[in-house]
Amino acid sequence: MYGETDYEQINLEEAPPSDEPARQYYFIEKCRRYVDCFYEKHNRFPRACVTTFGCQMNARDSEKLSGILRQIGYELTEDENSDFVIFNTCTVRDNANQRVYGRLGELNGYKRRNPEMKIALCGCMMQEPEVIEKLKKSYGFVDLIFGTHNLYQFAELLCRTLESDGMVVDIWKDTDRIVEELPVERKYPFKSGVNIMFGCDNFCSYCIVPYVRGRERSRRPEDILREIERLVADGVVEVMLLGQNVNSYGRNLETPVTFAELLRRVERIEGLKRIRFMTSHPKDLSDELIQVMKESDKICRHLHLPLQSGSTRILQQMNRRYTREQYLELVRRIRQEIPDIAITTDIIVGFPGETPEDLEQTIDMVRQVKYDNAFTFLYSKRTGTPAAAMENQVPEAQRKEGFDRLLKVVQETAREQAAAHQGKVLEALIEEVNESTPGYVTGRLSNNTIVHIPGDETMVGKLFPVLLEECRGFYYLGKAVPADGCERGGVNGR
Ligand code: SAH
Ligand code: SF4
Ligand code: F3S
Repeated sequence: MYGETDYEQINLEEAPPSDEPARQYYFIEKCRRYVDCFYEKHNRFPRACVTTFGCQMNARDSEKLSGILRQIGYELTEDENSDFVIFNTCTVRDNANQRVYGRLGELNGYKRRNPEMKIALCGCMMQEPEVIEKLKKSYGFVDLIFGTHNLYQFAELLCRTLESDGMVVDIWKDTDRIVEELPVERKYPFKSGVNIMFGCDNFCSYCIVPYVRGRERSRRPEDILREIERLVADGVVEVMLLGQNVNSYGRNLETPVTFAELLRRVERIEGLKRIRFMTSHPKDLSDELIQVMKESDKICRHLHLPLQSGSTRILQQMNRRYTREQYLELVRRIRQEIPDIAITTDIIVGFPGETPEDLEQTIDMVRQVKYDNAFTFLYSKRTGTPAAAMENQVPEAQRKEGFDRLLKVVQETAREQAAAHQGKVLEALIEEVNESTPGYVTGRLSNNTIVHIPGDETMVGKLFPVLLEECRGFYYLGKAVPADGCERGGVNGR
């Protein structure tokens, strides 16, 4: 429907349709009337700002919000001093929440000067009942609050907000519904995230995501493929397949499909150059997936494989369902089949009961696996998760000390790994003009390493073989070279 929508055909005299997505297009049309009135009154279009606080999935949701706002006729901006501002929130760690409260105070200042301004909140944090209580009590200037399960209803909710003076709050506990064919506004013309599944059923004991994103649901492969084909027709060369645990994709579909099989089908899409995905849970990573990655020309040489802890005892407490030895064995198999793969990870420091010896085991894992990069997080207690109720919480000073010790090793390993590419010619997708160094552009290798090369905006969105001349810690300086200089035709740098 999106792309061919003829808004003239929508009759607002009639009641809104009950089927989706037609119902949302009806409300988009209704909101367009509001924009017309705004234009007549102010002689300009209303401006809207969407701010993302969370992960790639959160960012993809923001693109959906932006798509609807654009269809309605808002001018999109990054300036939060706008006529409509929506915060797409994250609650995975407490500092994400605190940032939202801080920034809301600033928005209130803007609203005092622009009383017509509307402020909306959505995303994972809104699925927590205590948050909603707090907002209702102390943040009465917020106009619209909705959660993760009814994001597809944004046009309808916005319409209600524009028509009412009070706070509109609509949060669902869960859903089994996936609504396809709504507008999306991509941040980058040449690359895009693509949801392949929603929710999570793993219930790692520290993690709030299963509570705020609901049960795992996979999109049908034909819907995913159609979306990617359209993206490619619209200039996209790289897709990032998104899910909390992509390795369990497709299990609950009417006709089950494995993630490896989905990748095989995505690979066949002509014109698509690169495929990335995240996140892989180590417990579900199959040999079939390793084979598909090995044989693929398009799947990038990068695997994000969250470890969380290197201690089997802590992994058990975390409900991760693999041991230290199983993880190491998995990495061994992956590296044996795909030697040039970059492996990155997530690690939590200070999980309840973690001793200095447990942390030593994690540090030892970082040295053994030789991560190309690791995102390290201080454990954050999340209300309602099993770990929050554990008695042996680690004192803050010990957590911070451990964090710093781990970070040093992570950085050493990442530097060593990055340095190993010196002098190679690998293919880079140029992503943007370098803001800080005039005359330079910034690209990304298949293995996710960043490289800066001389160039201009005409190169953005295209692939070039690049000579990696100088390693600067975690990134490279280099230059584009003629195509025949690239190893094995330059595809994936193999
Ligand atoms: N689904 C992904 C992770 C999503 S959350 C996976 O399983 O790998 C991203 C990262 O945030 C996690 O990998 C974990 O390292 C971190 N994280 C999640 N909950 C956390 C908590 N309570 N405290 C600190 N870090 C946390
Ligand atoms: Fe959270 Fe674990 Fe699910 Fe990842 S797999 S989202 S860490 S519960
Ligand atoms: Fe945050 Fe929600 Fe993503 S809690 S990490 S935005 S799934």
